[in-house]
Amino acid sequence: MDHAEVVRRNKAYSLADWVPQNQWNPLSMSKAEGVYFWDADGKRYLDWSSQLFNVNIGHSHPHVIQAVQDQVARAAYASPDIATEPRAQLGEMLADLTPGNLGKTFFTLGGSDAVEAALKMARMATGRQKIVARYRAYHGATFGAMSVGGDPRRLANEPGVPWVIRVHDPYAYRSPLYRGRSEDEGDRALVDQIEETIQFEGPGSVAAILLEGYSGTSGVIQGGEQFWRGMQSICDRYDILLIVDEVLSGFGRTGEWFGINHYPYVEPDLMVLAKGLTSGYVPLGAVVVSAQVAAHFDNETLSTGLTLGAHAVGCAAAIANIEVYQKENLVDQASKLGITLRKGLMDLAEEHRSVGDVRGVGLLQVVELVKDRRTREPLSPFNAPLSEPMQRVSASLRESGMNTVVRWNWIFSAPPLIINEEQIREGLEIMDRALSVADKVVAD
Ligand SMILES: Cc1ncc(COP(=O)(O)O)c(C=O)c1O
Repeated sequence: MDHAEVVRRNKAYSLADWVPQNQWNPLSMSKAEGVYFWDADGKRYLDWSSQLFNVNIGHSHPHVIQAVQDQVARAAYASPDIATEPRAQLGEMLADLTPGNLGKTFFTLGGSDAVEAALKMARMATGRQKIVARYRAYHGATFGAMSVGGDPRRLANEPGVPWVIRVHDPYAYRSPLYRGRSEDEGDRALVDQIEETIQFEGPGSVAAILLEGYSGTSGVIQGGEQFWRGMQSICDRYDILLIVDEVLSGFGRTGEWFGINHYPYVEPDLMVLAKGLTSGYVPLGAVVVSAQVAAHFDNETLSTGLTLGAHAVGCAAAIANIEVYQKENLVDQASKLGITLRKGLMDLAEEHRSVGDVRGVGLLQVVELVKDRRTREPLSPFNAPLSEPMQRVSASLRESGMNTVVRWNWIFSAPPLIINEEQIREGLEIMDRALSVADKVVAD
């Protein structure tokens, strides 16, 4: 099938997520290797977003392919109440890699159901109901996970679950709370506001605060030390659990094993993993819990479960992924290359008046485009279809052979961790061209 035929038949017989079907205009993929993939007509694309921020080790890695093939041949499936060697080995690896006293893992199929499990476990372990979460955060698309994310993707599911308390974000570039304040002062004001919200809600009814370890698709909007110290001290003061969602920011994406490792004074009680856990080769998600949370379930039933949970092939793929991260030193590599990427984006920001802000760390960066640097008016409005200029920017990236995530006025840069300097330059040149398209509609 050529590209047109693949797309036509996909559209005829399947449903796409997050778009009206008539607006779905997908690329196709017939082959993928390293940081590139090829469409069904043979056109090559640079994968500048690691698909959905998940193919961290790059495409078609032979070590993972082999591990998956071996496990399928040995025992493709075991019910989750049966013990397997890959599950034992992976659980132990995660206990070693994750911070603090996180030590026991519940395995799911992906990020959303792992978030669901984390919410349930926090509620069961504390006997409290409410979950505090951010507006500018995404935690998945299943019913509870979609409710607990504040990102507008939740709106179609409203009112969702009733026990979510949403709080504002450390958005120094736009939040009124940060106006006239330094980032540290803004973070402190935000922490005070969150604590006040929790007092209004009754701290004794709050089970957990749920935060992305490093903010992802809701805009790479990340608080600093003051924010994280504040969140930890609120959790300590009111015996609230801290759930850290590392689905996107885990496994080297930010130049650390986990986003939260940038804040070593924070101690998550539950950590949610997926995406880079298997780099998408096979579905798998996980919730790693602290010794205290695990102990609650020693004599209490863990009331959740999935037929495909703790899948042996998923566990084998995750073990092989972790071996690749370790053998190829990919976490350090992401940190080093992140500096190159960041510098390149900052240079583009100097040259292009459409760039309002550049945010991120490691190989997780976003460029925010504006119509006017003084007023900061976005080039495409929040939670609305892409403006005409932003559509042209997006089309330029695609024409130049780049696949990445464009949302509203944001362009994300999150390539696989195996990318090299030359390939980063290639990506920056493509961005350079696209930003020139944006500059045309921007005030001097
Ligand atoms: C931070 C975060 N949490 C949870 C999820 C949901 O994961 P999944 O799409 O694997 O269900 C995502 C997906 O983008 C995410 O970015």
